[in-house]
Amino acid sequence: MRRATSSLSAVPALRTTGMRATSSLFTSSSSAAMLKSRTLHSSVPRQGDHGGLSQHRDTPDNTIDTPFDFTEANTVEIKKILAKYPVNYKQAATIPLLHLAQYQTGGWVPLAAMNKIAKILEIPPMKVYEVATFYTMFNRTKVGKYHVQLCTTTPCQLGGCGSTVILETIKKHLNIGVGETTADGLFTLTEVECLGACVNAPMLQIGDDYFEDLTPESTVALLETLKAGKTPKVGPQTGGRKNCEGPQGKTTLFAAPAGPYCRPDLETCA
Ligand code: FES
Repeated sequence: MRRATSSLSAVPALRTTGMRATSSLFTSSSSAAMLKSRTLHSSVPRQGDHGGLSQHRDTPDNTIDTPFDFTEANTVEIKKILAKYPVNYKQAATIPLLHLAQYQTGGWVPLAAMNKIAKILEIPPMKVYEVATFYTMFNRTKVGKYHVQLCTTTPCQLGGCGSTVILETIKKHLNIGVGETTADGLFTLTEVECLGACVNAPMLQIGDDYFEDLTPESTVALLETLKAGKTPKVGPQTGGRKNCEGPQGKTTLFAAPAGPYCRPDLETCA
């Protein structure tokens, strides 16, 4: 896998984030210093995969002929999902079915799975490819058992010890770079954009769980817990706070909202 650790890799990263890299920016006297420091991302721009291309490339376990079918349990699940949509809007189930396929394969979506989904939804395969390559939560190549998705967007860079410190900690502890998987197949490291938990920065996601308020020590402890096959505590890892409460603790929502509610069925929840 490609890994760009040189300072010049910041240039394409800037372009892909929509920021205009004007010539003056890169010809000023401070440009050399700026390029040497970590700016927005030190990894290559992610184009639908871990730094790879969106285009499909055949690998031994991922060709158009690689067999794929949903399990019996997932076939039942698909029926339930499809029942949520009008028959002429089956395409709306593309994302739920991609998620299902990704869970079934252990973290990635092979070409054959996308083709199978297209067949089930009675849509051209391209419609499924478009979705799977647009949303970064779908992996087009195999990932490790634990897909470590570290948020490196600005609030996470600035919060606590900062995501740059956490990134370096993970790279050093696992001996891998961004977009790489450990030799034992346990961990894959990816940089991602804001995961919506900025108040608990820095944070990372593994599977469906968030691990927040990270420090180098708690990050190593988290990785070691997973390596040992144990289940780590989710949420804030340091400081003892609950969820995203501020230092003063809970200050609102001590009772159920009084209403009025816009949906009568929710009134029974009060
Ligand atoms: S910036 Fe990291 S969760 Fe928002």
